[in-house]
Amino acid sequence: MDIVIANESHFKYAQIICDTIADSAKVRGTGIAKRTPEYIMKRLQNGNAVIALDGDTFAGFCYIEVWGNKDFVANSGLIVHPDYRNQGLAKKIKKAIFELSRKKFPDAKIFGITTGLAVMKMNYELGYRPVTFSELTDDPDFWKGCQTCKNFDILTRTEQKMCLCTGMLYDANEKKSEKDTESKKLNGKAFQRLKNIKETLFLKKKQKP
Ligand SMILES: CC(C)(COP(=O)(O)OP(=O)(O)OC[C@H]1O[C@@H](n2cnc3c(N)ncnc32)[C@H](O)[C@@H]1OP(=O)(O)O)[C@@H](O)C(=O)NCCC(=O)NCCS
Repeated sequence: MDIVIANESHFKYAQIICDTIADSAKVRGTGIAKRTPEYIMKRLQNGNAVIALDGDTFAGFCYIEVWGNKDFVANSGLIVHPDYRNQGLAKKIKKAIFELSRKKFPDAKIFGITTGLAVMKMNYELGYRPVTFSELTDDPDFWKGCQTCKNFDILTRTEQKMCLCTGMLYDANEKKSEKDTESKKLNGKAFQRLKNIKETLFLKKKQKP
């Protein structure tokens, strides 16, 4: 398995990346920001993405998005093809994209929003911590990306204060004073509970007439 920084030679994988992201969201029944092949191609082109290939076969992907005048970067669109799951590939891709983000944007805070427990676990192990949305970028273009998510009405109702996703942030400056974070493991049960509470609160209210 090769995990490499993507470039124009990987354009042919843009469609399968989009399809795999969309199909996985359908299976999970969760909301997700939609991406077009053109959108993915731009990320492949600017050296801000990592792709995993098994020979010529697409296995996984993740990209960096820059927000708010380079104050924030997000590691987004993490996807592992179903044929390659549960073998530690996402962890390797996450680590590669995290290291690329730190190298290219050393002064930026790295963040993500996710409903996925696997992503929360990996982020936490890399040194991210859960935060309220107010600590994330206020760049309107980032939040516009949520418009294509099926839960966008929740974000609107809460005036962008919260949604089903959990915000997670890595702040390199903060990390310097927190030496013990490396060894910490995420309390998965607590996150699962938080997710259930949010779904009960937001989704049931939505169903009431
Ligand atoms: C989530 C996803 C990227 C995981 O890929 P993967 O290669 O199977 O993950 P890994 O094998 O590297 O596992 C990484 C960690 O996540 C955990 N994990 C993997 N899938 C999980 C799941 N569905 N639920 C909870 N934890 C999960 C693993 O146990 C592992 O944790 P550990 O180190 O404590 O054992 C993959 O299932 C996927 O592409 N899903 C659809 C897209 C998606 O959900 N993307 C995230 C958008 S927010």
